[in-house]
Amino acid sequence: MLVGGVAKAVGAAGHCRERVRAPPAPARIPTMPDPIFPRSDELALVMGGTGGIGAALADALAARGRAVLAVGRRTPVAVDYADPGSVERLAAHVAQRLADEQRSLTTLIVATGVLHEGAVQPERSWQHLDAEALQRVFLVNTIGPALVMRHLLPLLPRQGRCVAAFLSARVGSIGDNRLGGWYGYRASKAALNQLVRTASIELARRNKQALCVALHPGTVDTALSQPFAKTGLEVRPPALAAQQLLQVIDTLPEGSGGGFFDHQGLPVPW
Ligand SMILES: NC(=O)c1ccc[n+]([C@@H]2O[C@H](COP(=O)([O-])OP(=O)(O)OC[C@H]3O[C@@H](n4cnc5c(N)ncnc54)[C@H](OP(=O)(O)O)[C@@H]3O)[C@@H](O)[C@H]2O)c1
Repeated sequence: MLVGGVAKAVGAAGHCRERVRAPPAPARIPTMPDPIFPRSDELALVMGGTGGIGAALADALAARGRAVLAVGRRTPVAVDYADPGSVERLAAHVAQRLADEQRSLTTLIVATGVLHEGAVQPERSWQHLDAEALQRVFLVNTIGPALVMRHLLPLLPRQGRCVAAFLSARVGSIGDNRLGGWYGYRASKAALNQLVRTASIELARRNKQALCVALHPGTVDTALSQPFAKTGLEVRPPALAAQQLLQVIDTLPEGSGGGFFDHQGLPVPW
């Protein structure tokens, strides 16, 4: 009879002898990280951590007990893509913090972006294409994240699972473009997607378990989307979008690096 791993055998004299059996083999350790009990030696970095989606992501990560560094243009450690040196300074700060606190940078989320900014507005026609506006949109949506790749991806661990997620947009999909318009925003996100794909290949050479992906957050109620939210469109609150994005990040399967996924984890065409 087996009771709680202890075998009881009744001997000839009727005495009860106890024979301790080896405990059953432990169940296979799941390969997915436990999102509820993250390792305490992890650091999550959220670029654009002051924006609508970025701040919600930083809050959600902190609520899971994760150490989080949320960076904006006016945070104590600030990054403005107009100043490439600020990305380099951030990387030096993060490297020092990782060393001081003996942490690993296992989550890097880039939630920066611009759709409109003062005179910069999404173009409805080729007539609105403007060199300065295009440069601004490409600076924030493409060149800035490229500098983040250069300076921050080398800080990801060389072993074990880690994720670099860059917030893109479905309108950056060339295959999915049926409406036209928004030339600069679409093109800057399409270029970002190519950078993500390219960086994912280089990253995987350093660490097979490191994933670099582009994510579409869906339409989220933030300053970026507010002027364009149409009735009938499903606009979700940032807190819900953040939960969904973290769920996608947590469950990205091995080999999904270089992919483009929406907030439900479904692939988006390039
Ligand atoms: N909201 C949506 O419906 C939606 C849909 C599809 C994709 N997305 C994408 O999701 C991401 C986050 O969007 P969001 O809605 O959260 O936008 P948001 O609320 O406007 O936040 C934008 C973030 O980008 C930062 N940023 C802007 N210009 C910058 C610069 N020159 N240098 C460095 N950082 C800069 C802002 O920093 P400061 O706070 O310092 O200004 C802020 O943290 C973007 O990539 C966006 O394209 C959003």
